[in-house]
Amino acid sequence: MPTASLPVTSDPSPGPAHVAIIMDGNGRWAKARGLPRAAGHRRGADAVRRVVRGAGELGIPMLTLFAFSTENWARPADEVADLMGLLRHYLRSELDELLRNGARLRVIGNREGLPEDIVRGISDAERQTQSNTRIDVNICVNYGARHEILQATRNLARRVAAGELSPERIDEQHFERELLTAGLPDPDLVIRTSGEQRISNFLLWQCAYAELVFVDTLWPDFGKDHLQQAIAEFRRRERRYGGIGR
Ligand code: FPP
Repeated sequence: MPTASLPVTSDPSPGPAHVAIIMDGNGRWAKARGLPRAAGHRRGADAVRRVVRGAGELGIPMLTLFAFSTENWARPADEVADLMGLLRHYLRSELDELLRNGARLRVIGNREGLPEDIVRGISDAERQTQSNTRIDVNICVNYGARHEILQATRNLARRVAAGELSPERIDEQHFERELLTAGLPDPDLVIRTSGEQRISNFLLWQCAYAELVFVDTLWPDFGKDHLQQAIAEFRRRERRYGGIGR
């Protein structure tokens, strides 16, 4: 195949247009200071505020944060309650800040398992911020990529069984439309803090071609400067999408 007909083999835009972050290390941050894990999560929520503001200032169009995975329910009940409490508080206290930052909030994940008042808070914050255009902020809550992929598969299988769709016609676009991120661009850059180097069931389909940057900083210490450094690392990378590059 001539090179000209291949998909884009290198990215001419400075980007990234979409940064996703696996926020990790709250517990270790607290432990190092002899504090309860809840204190680490509280400082983690402060970092969320800083990074959302910083991303807006850096002109990043979309930021996605992994706040609570489907696997996190396995943590001790008091820690789960602390995390839900922080989320509840965030939805109330950060609404003005999101509006000031021109941020549109979306919460991605399975809402069925969440406390009812949080589900209401999410819908309210999403509605109030829906016309903001400076930055899209997606927070993944009760999210697990394998579950998302299974749901998408079930939905497509139902349509096949109903005779609405033939299996041969199922392509990437059909599949993407069934994901919780339908209509959103894939992340260009995924950052994980705290030195761990794993994806942990985060946006598995969507991260197929993302650049991964792992940083040692614990999430409560992460800020705009760290974000800027990760973006600089991203810009040094050559994205080839399976092609042979420049
Ligand atoms: C990982 O640290 C972090 C989490 C499981 C939760 C992330 C939550 C926040 C940043 C605060 C709340 C968020 C919002 C949006 C209000 P860990 O506990 O796994 O840390 P460890 O690996 O050091 O134990």
